Amino acid sequence: MSMSVQDSAREREGFPRPFPGTPSNVLEQLRLNEKVVVVTGAADGIGLAVAEAMAEAGAHVGMWYNSNDAAIQRSQELASAHNVKTAAYKVDVSDPDQVQEAIAKVVKDFGKMDVFVANAGMAISKGLLETSLDEYQKQMSVNVDGVVFCAKHAGAIFKNQGFGNLIITSSISAHIVNVPVDQPIYNATKAYVTHLGKSLAREWREFARVNVVSPGFFDTKMGAGPDVVDEAYRMSALGRQGHVKEIKGLYLYLASNASSYMTGSDLLIDGGYVLP
Ligand code: NAI
Repeated sequence: MSMSVQDSAREREGFPRPFPGTPSNVLEQLRLNEKVVVVTGAADGIGLAVAEAMAEAGAHVGMWYNSNDAAIQRSQELASAHNVKTAAYKVDVSDPDQVQEAIAKVVKDFGKMDVFVANAGMAISKGLLETSLDEYQKQMSVNVDGVVFCAKHAGAIFKNQGFGNLIITSSISAHIVNVPVDQPIYNATKAYVTHLGKSLAREWREFARVNVVSPGFFDTKMGAGPDVVDEAYRMSALGRQGHVKEIKGLYLYLASNASSYMTGSDLLIDGGYVLP
């Protein structure tokens, strides 16, 4: 940052940097052939849709799951449907040793790691005064520690390779205070990872891009529950929750060369929920 025009006029060695070799045809930009993508929370919901999107676009996919071992069969189905290599890994993202070991295993199995999608998350939707300290710690351990551990170990690989791409699933809850159910801890965990992503975009500028996706309500296990569903319909300009197929294109864009000039961005996809 320059404090004066004279300061800013001083030439800096190495600038401007060259344009990347991004193809000019937009559909070619979106192809992920030979890229290796890891998705956490990939057994179901948004993570499964993201894993599908990656495989459909030609990427090899490492699907991380915690307890839902349906990920194993889904990864096999994706491999045979799209002629890509896939593997399922059982990883509790709140355990730093498991995260480090799984990332090393992905690199051993696939030879490299182009994109890491830190998507796993959980919510205990209660006001602070009703939230026990264990419930607080649980949300922090998955939504904050889990993303930090994944970013730290994926980032080390990216730096070593000289390339990489981190995508973090945050939430509209990083932008707004949800109504009608108070959930300050969940909201704050998502605000943390949004700002973490922006900060890493700068720290990793020499070797990796980092972007954040902030979904509104999507019809998954973590989507709008009975207490909030009517408000979710009312607040969304489109009058409904999103279907997970409607988020695939955004993750594909961020994972692909189509977004080669995008880093440090936080992309809302919420049917217009945060407009009013
Ligand atoms: P989901 O419940 O289907 O997916 C969450 C995934 O995270 C599950 O597969 C779960 O096994 C995994 N997970 C939880 N704890 C874990 C742990 N300790 N280690 C590894 N994996 C763990 O729900 P959904 O909606 O697909 O959520 C995905 C992400 O999207 C989450 O980060 C969530 O906070 C975020 N999100 C979801 C919204 C929605 O309305 N569905 C809205 C905004 C954000």
